[in-house]
This record gives sequence, C-alpha cells and structure tokens, in this order.
Amino acid sequence: MESNKIRQAFLDFFAGKDHVIVPSAPMVVKNDPTLMFTNAGMNQFKDIFLGNIPRPYPRAADTQKCLRVSGKHNDLEEVGHDTYHHTMFEMLGNWSFGDYFKKEAIGWAWELLTGVYGLDKSRMYATVFEGSPEDGVPFDQEAYDIWLQYLPADHIIRGNKHDNFWEMGDVGPCGPCSEIHYDLRDESEIAAVPGREMVNQGSPLVIEIWNLVFMQFNRKANGSLEPLAANCIDTGMGFERLCMILQGKKSNYDTDVFQPTIQRIAAMSGKTYGADEKCDVAMRVVADHLRAISFSIADGQLPSNVKAGYVIRRILRRAVRYGYTYLSFNEPFICRLMAGLVDQMGGQF
Ligand code: GLY
Repeated sequence: MESNKIRQAFLDFFAGKDHVIVPSAPMVVKNDPTLMFTNAGMNQFKDIFLGNIPRPYPRAADTQKCLRVSGKHNDLEEVGHDTYHHTMFEMLGNWSFGDYFKKEAIGWAWELLTGVYGLDKSRMYATVFEGSPEDGVPFDQEAYDIWLQYLPADHIIRGNKHDNFWEMGDVGPCGPCSEIHYDLRDESEIAAVPGREMVNQGSPLVIEIWNLVFMQFNRKANGSLEPLAANCIDTGMGFERLCMILQGKKSNYDTDVFQPTIQRIAAMSGKTYGADEKCDVAMRVVADHLRAISFSIADGQLPSNVKAGYVIRRILRRAVRYGYTYLSFNEPFICRLMAGLVDQMGGQF
C-alpha cells in the first residue's frame, strides 16, 4: 500500500468512528514556554486535557508533523545511522477528550491494525504499565485484561515507568500507556529468540508502532501528579514505521516516504544508494533533514543563532556537513530537493 493511502486509511477509519479529522498543528510552537517544537500529536490538545479550554469535540484524529530534536525527546544524533529514527516524522493519532477510554482505544487499534491493514497477529505484542509506588499509580490491570481479549498472555508484557508512563515534558498531561510492538524478523530468527524477549531492547526489527496513552494526570512543577478532571485518550502511531511494515521493508528509508528523495540525492551526487555505508548514512541524513528544515521554515521558524532557530540551523548544518563530506557536493544542493518533497507531501500538508 502506498504511504499516502496508508495515511488516508487511518483517517478514514477514525472518521468512521465519529472522530473529527483535524489538520496537523504547525511543527513550530510559538505559545508554550515548555516546548519549542511539536513533539507529539497531543501538544495541540494540551489545554483541552488540562481543562483550561472547553473541548470543541469529544473525539479527534489527525496526522501530526512532529520534530524530536530538543528537550525530553531528542533523537538527532541517531538519525541516518539506523533504519528508524527521524528528526521530523508524522504521528497518526486519535483522541478522546473525556469520551471513550481504554476499551475502545485498544479495541479500535486492534481492529485497524489487524482488520484494515492486515498485520499478522502472531507478530504483535502489547505492553502495559507495571505501576509506580513512588507516583502512587498501580499496575494497569484494566489494560491488561482488555489486551487478553486479543492477545495471548505471553504477548502482553509489563513495562516500567520509562517505557509505559508517557509524559509530554517535565510538566504537563501524562499517564500510563500501552504500546503495540511488531516483530519484523525472519521466521528463523523468531524461532531462535521469541519476540517477547526483544520488545524494548533496541532491536530495529522489533519495534514500537503505536502508543496508546491513558491520560489521567497533570505532572506539576514540584513533581507530583494531579488527576485530570476527565480521563482522556491520546494515541500516537509512527507513520513511517507503519509504512515500513506494510510495504514489507526493513528500513523506514526503504519506503516510498524516503526513497524518491534518496534516489534524487543519488542521481545528483552520482552515487548509488546501497553501495557504501558512509554514503548511505549521508543520504539518509539529507533525506531526513530536508523534511525537518523545509517544514520548520514553512511553519514559521527560520534557521538562526538563538533558541528554536539555532536548533534548525544545527539540523541544516548537519545535512550540509554530511552532503559535503560524503557525497562530494560542493555547492548548495538541499534547495534542489525541495520540488520533489512538495510533490510528495503537498497534498496532505
Ligand atoms: N503522545 C503519545 C506519544 O507521543 O507516544
């Protein structure tokens, strides 16, 4: 399935469950002192979760442009060296603002992944929060029992606060979460080591695809948790990873999200993707950073020497450095990749 159709199938599915489909918020955040860039789909809904503004609708879904290059979620130095980290990525999400809760969130995630996208159930794992005595939050028995309707017990894994308690930042809305992981390895590798031993162990082929957050608290500046006025749902699914799985690839960069750009870089540099590891890393860096820089500028943040502008300048410099060092570019080249990116993503954004 083409990536543009994968995205549309997600939006259509949740529209069919009475969700309002909303546009992505800008990737650049101008009105929140705790955040420079949108780092999760829920950012634009923070004040609804906190009860600071009335909910405009009980349910919403979207694809959100996210950038994880600063603060609590920072992946910059990984990007290009592995198959699945990105600076900018799309997060597919659905939200309930005091409307449905765990049963529907888990049930619909299962229905979409297995029924619409046709993922192999035997390769799926779910994690649930083991609880945190220091925060006074118990083991998430409710999510565990719901998952038992869909998965065998040995595919449901208890996770700690690091993996299974999602927080937007040092302060703000948060709650226990349940992640869905997928095992992309070959049968022989699965026979040798079961997937449950690989979940959250850093394998590029046993990966988290969807995080279902059960928003119940506000983390205060003094570290304490205050219950939200209403239980909410916040989910985030990595679009590029989903495309990798549905397109039968083992690297996000081998999907139709990145390959058109990578092939343009290859043609412009006279190099072949797949022929040399250092050049491959550089092509992935440029293909990734092109998106981050272009969308940041389009959303109102020029590269500069302070704050958010400096973050964008660092990404731009990193792309230029890899291009000049490993791909033999010696004049501006990133601007020449723009038209292709607009063709590919302009329809949605
Ligand atoms: N807000 C859910 C996530 O980013 O994983």
